[in-house]
Amino acid sequence: MAPSPREAAPRLQQEMNAVVESVNKTIDRLLPETDLAENKLYQAMRHGTLNGGKRLRPFLVMHSASLFNVDPLRARRVAAALEFVHCYSLVHDDLPAMDNAALRRGKPTVHRQYDEATAILAGDALLTLAFQVLSEPDTHEDPRVRCELISALAKASGGHGMVGGQMLDLIGEEKEFDLGTISRLQRMKTGKLMAFACEAGAIMGKGNEPHRKALCNYAYDLGLAFQVTDDILDVEADPQDTGKDTQKDEQAGKATFVSAMGKEQAKERAEMLVKQAIAHLKIFDGRAEMLKELAQYVLERRA
Ligand code: IPE
Ligand code: IPE
Ligand code: MG
Ligand code: MG
Ligand code: MG
Repeated sequence: MAPSPREAAPRLQQEMNAVVESVNKTIDRLLPETDLAENKLYQAMRHGTLNGGKRLRPFLVMHSASLFNVDPLRARRVAAALEFVHCYSLVHDDLPAMDNAALRRGKPTVHRQYDEATAILAGDALLTLAFQVLSEPDTHEDPRVRCELISALAKASGGHGMVGGQMLDLIGEEKEFDLGTISRLQRMKTGKLMAFACEAGAIMGKGNEPHRKALCNYAYDLGLAFQVTDDILDVEADPQDTGKDTQKDEQAGKATFVSAMGKEQAKERAEMLVKQAIAHLKIFDGRAEMLKELAQYVLERRA
C-alpha cells in the first residue's frame, strides 16, 4: 500500500540519510589523502566531494539498482563515480570564469579554500577518477556492463550532456533564449547526469528496454524539475539553507525558467514535470515508491 505523505516524509529522510552515510564512506575510501608532494590535489578533491551535499544522484543510483536486485556494494561504487562527476561539475561551475561563487555546501568553494589552478586540477582529477572506478572489476563482474556504464556516463557528462548544457548556460548570459532552448539547456546541464543515475541501475541489473526507457524518462523530467526548483531557490531561499550564495542568476543574466516565465509559473511547471516524472514509473507496479517520494521532495525542498 502506498504510504500517506505524512508517513512518507520520514521514511524518505531515513533513506536519504542512509545513502549519504554509505556513499560518503565509499568516497572516503576511494579518495585517501597521500604522503606524496602533490597531496594538496587530494585535499582539494576531498574538499570538493566530502563537504556535504544531498547525494541525490547517488540516491537515484541506489534505488534504481535495487529495482533490479543489484548488489548494493557494487551500486555504491557507481554512485560514488557519478558523484565525482557531479562534484567536479560544481567545482568548475563555481570558478570565477563561470559563476564566480564563494560558498558551496556551506563552506568556501574549492578555489577559495585553495586556489584557482588547484580547483581546475581537482575537477579534472575527479572526472578521470570516476571513469577509473567504473572500469574496475569490483564495479561489475561483466566487462561489457563496465564498458556500457563508462559509455553512458561519458555521453551524459560531455558535450551532448552536462558540459554542453554549461556552455549553453554561459551563452544564455549574453543571448536571449526561447523557452524551448532553456528547457534543452537545463535537460542537458542537469537532466543528463540524473538520467545516467537511473539508467545505471538498469545497466548493472541488465534490465529490459521498457524498464530502462521508463527510468530515463523519469529522470529526465525530474532533472528539469530539479533545475527549475534550483532556479526558484536562487531567488527566494536563504543561503543558510542552501549553503550557497543566492540571488546570483539574475545578476549574471542567466536564462532560467524564472527569468522566462516568472516564479509562480515556474513553480507550476515544476509541479507538472514532477507529475509527469512519477507517471513514467507506473511500469514498476508500486516497486518504485522511493523514486516517487524523491520526485515529490524535489518540489518541496528548501536546500
Ligand atoms: C546543484 O546540485 C547543482 C544543480 C545541478 C542544480 P545539488 O542541489 O544536487 O547539489 P548538492 O550535491 O546537494 O550540493
Ligand atoms: C549548475 O547549475 C549545474 C551544473 C552542471 C554544475 P547552477 O550554476 O545553477 O548550480 P548552482 O546553483 O551553482 O548549484
Ligand atoms: Mg552555473
Ligand atoms: Mg552555479
Ligand atoms: Mg543555481
